[in-house]
Amino acid sequence: MHGQRKPPNRAGKNFAIRGWNMTQPLRIAIAGLGTVGAGVVKMLQTHGTMINSRAGRAVEIVAVSARSRSKDRGVDLAAFGWEDDPVALARRDDVDLLIEVMGGEDGPAKACVEAALSSGKHVVTANKAMLAHHGQAMAALAEANGVALRFEAGVAGGIPIVKALTEGLAGNKITRVMGVMNGTCNYILTTMEATGADYLDVLRDAQALGYAEADPAFDVGGTDAAHKLALLAATAFGTQVSFDAVVTQGIEQISLPDIHAARDMGYRIKLLGVAQRNQDGLEQRMQPCLVPSDSPLGMLEGVTNMVLIEGDFIGQTVYQGPGAGEGPTASAILGDVVDVARGLVIPAFGQPSSALLPAKAASPGSEGAFYLRLELEDAPGTLARVAEALAEQSVSIDRMRQYSHNGKTAPVLIVTHKTSPARLQSALDTIAALSVSHAPPVALRIEDV
Ligand code: NAP
Ligand code: HSE
Repeated sequence: MHGQRKPPNRAGKNFAIRGWNMTQPLRIAIAGLGTVGAGVVKMLQTHGTMINSRAGRAVEIVAVSARSRSKDRGVDLAAFGWEDDPVALARRDDVDLLIEVMGGEDGPAKACVEAALSSGKHVVTANKAMLAHHGQAMAALAEANGVALRFEAGVAGGIPIVKALTEGLAGNKITRVMGVMNGTCNYILTTMEATGADYLDVLRDAQALGYAEADPAFDVGGTDAAHKLALLAATAFGTQVSFDAVVTQGIEQISLPDIHAARDMGYRIKLLGVAQRNQDGLEQRMQPCLVPSDSPLGMLEGVTNMVLIEGDFIGQTVYQGPGAGEGPTASAILGDVVDVARGLVIPAFGQPSSALLPAKAASPGSEGAFYLRLELEDAPGTLARVAEALAEQSVSIDRMRQYSHNGKTAPVLIVTHKTSPARLQSALDTIAALSVSHAPPVALRIEDV
């Protein structure tokens, strides 16, 4: 009869797409059973039937590895094989895909990922440190062996941002990637602001909640977020991963008075990453910045991440979600696993590794307005000397505010007009050397968002 079609089979049993192997299970090994690894086991055990249906085939854990076999991880591992050596795990004949969630840029994580790729197994990893340093070589190794290397969980936690760049926005020339990409830092900054709690106490909470890296210095020093920015920039701009070119500054120097003063002037402080092309190359920076309090970035609370991507045809797109922790990270891992189970095998950075061009680092950073906090002697003529140091470098003052003094010194806050970071630094060097300056000046960029 005209117009009548056989209804699609939604049960999956007889469902077939050319090129898919829908009859065999996808057999998985997991290296690492900490926050993320245990989360992946939990998610598969909770939603196995649904995930199999979405994948179009069974997704089965075959074997696992960690340092301690006897540790209670809150999940039942009895049905899985065990390997003490993650490289042996990666090479098992009964494994199709390795999930690497041990961490560490070199060592066993790198060894087992390379072993898996070389022996023709797909890899899904949350390890941004490893890929920031070895991503280019690993992407080439995956391609040479016809397998997938996926890292959605390594960037912005549960937000499917790599997928957005490599798939949904693939028709656009990307002009800017910007965002808050470290959950621990945003949790620390917003909790300190809300509760007045001490920096170290809040950091300890973030560790207990499973947000922080094994060494939290990677979080608060900005390195973890810089790893993520380097991976996103490579994917967005078609360049080789160039982590060493990311200008990185952490949040260790941000004090509660800075957080409150910024708020008072209509801003919030965020550890913000920006990657964009400017006239002389690719600018990549991860540093504490001020953003307007009423902007979407300014309103981010807790462990939440937000990434903005701008493309020439689409304009600005915004993605928000939890940036760390067991559930969100496991969610990103399983998203990658289901893609591979469905037969989606694309190059790690969205195009063949041989097509990725070397990234020429832009220098110096683009112009911007800055927030300055100075601790100055409360005496006649002090401000004139500061104004003179700024004027010598053509740094123009937009706004200025002085807070109550302690009898000897007073905090002075200045917002500048747009200026080059190099000129500002020269002025700050002069100000720091003035006899009326009683503490090293604090300077934070005010980002256009
Ligand atoms: P974690 O809780 O410290 O867990 C690490 C796991 O790896 C542990 O099970 C540990 O074994 C195992 N392991 C470490 N070294 C090993 C070795 N030499 N041989 C065998 N197993 C080893 O770390 P995590 O928070 O789950 O993070 C794992 C990875 O995911 C890291 O790359 C991290 O950057 C990334 N990531 C984490 C999050 C998050 O929110 N936590 C989010 C995104 C990405 P034992 O348990 O026996 O000690
Ligand atoms: N330590 C990281 C963070 C985990 O806090 O964002 C997610 O990558």
